[in-house]
Amino acid sequence: MRFFLILSLLVMTSCTYNELSVCETDNPSFNDCVEPIFEKNCIGCHFQNNSNGIMPLSNFQEIQYNVINGTVIESIKREVGFMPKNGERLSAEEILIIENWKENDAPNN
Ligand code: HEC
Repeated sequence: MRFFLILSLLVMTSCTYNELSVCETDNPSFNDCVEPIFEKNCIGCHFQNNSNGIMPLSNFQEIQYNVINGTVIESIKREVGFMPKNGERLSAEEILIIENWKENDAPNN
């Protein structure tokens, strides 16, 4: 009984961020919401030990540190020279997911 209650709660409160993953924009989890955004849009340049000395954004610690200190959000929202470099701006929803995750103290969930 309790299992079904929890299950139906989960189903009711989740909304789909894309067809492959389940993500609550209001209460985003690192694994379902935040990490896929970095994997899709950032990791191509911000991987570990890259030869250009670009800071890595390849795991939880690196992403959390740079989201909490504000550099990531500044970089994706600035008018000119925004990240992803020479790429397409992140969607409003993707930006909101990162901002909401930061608001929630950037949990590893
Ligand atoms: C095509 C390569 C590329 C991609 C993709 C990319 N970056 Fe960058 N990023 C760079 C380079 C190169 C720098 C070093 C500074 C510069 O050249 O602008 C940089 C610097 C940064 C910095 C340091 C502050 C700054 O702008 O100087 C942040 C934060 C950052 N990137 C975040 C991101 C995030 C978040 C994403 C994904 C949404 C992303 N980057 C995607 C190449 C990239």
